[in-house]
Amino acid sequence: MILAADQLAAFRSAGVIAIPGLFSADEVDAITARLPRLFDERCPENFRERSSDVVRTAMGLHLRDELFARLVRDPRLVAPAQQILDDDRLYIQQVKVNAKEAFTGEQWQWHYDFATHHHEDGVPEPLALNLHIFLDEVTEFNGPLIFIPESHRDGPAPTALDTTTTSYPLWTVAPEVVQPLAARGGLYCPKGPPGTVLIFGDTMLHSSPPNMSPWDRRIFSLILNPVRNRQTTFARPDHQHHRDFTPVQALA
Ligand code: SIN
Ligand code: MN
Repeated sequence: MILAADQLAAFRSAGVIAIPGLFSADEVDAITARLPRLFDERCPENFRERSSDVVRTAMGLHLRDELFARLVRDPRLVAPAQQILDDDRLYIQQVKVNAKEAFTGEQWQWHYDFATHHHEDGVPEPLALNLHIFLDEVTEFNGPLIFIPESHRDGPAPTALDTTTTSYPLWTVAPEVVQPLAARGGLYCPKGPPGTVLIFGDTMLHSSPPNMSPWDRRIFSLILNPVRNRQTTFARPDHQHHRDFTPVQALA
């Protein structure tokens, strides 16, 4: 699947695009059926919430389950990424499900992903793409991601490492930096049924509130990065930034 010209233009302008209906309900059911076993595992790849034992994010999934090994090669994810980056040599940087469980799923502070990729892993340029699949219906109630359109245009904003607010250390962006960008671009909160795909780039500012609702908000996330832009430092474990720089080949 390749983005149409108007979709590509919309993505380049706003820095984020939502594409409903890309994966079927049956496909999403097959994905979510794998999660209870994976979430039950006690392993470093499963980060649990700070204030409960609930899984916040489960990483390295393509190395832990053969369905995810196929999913990371799905042309509906790989082909648009290759098209946007105009590069066929992309490696699998990170593969996860963010669980945002009903009642207990905690926030993700304002951030953009390149801050972590650059500070923690020595990634040179903000080229990586984050490709999401909604695994539950995402509504205004269950902790949706919130984006600031056009925030990708200004280059990397100042950040600070937050190791206390949640269980996952994050290079975050301060309110005084968020404020003028939101005044200019507004806020965009993509909602939609399971199977919706979201694509955004490495300097796109985003966050998500806690999930106070009785409904889970599980999202699959694949980060692809050009091999030419691969990590240069290796402090984080493989599941946070994979070290196999073999270009991913889309399945037929
Ligand atoms: C992220 O920013 O990578 C995750 C946000 C979320 O799952 O709500
Ligand atoms: Mn992020």
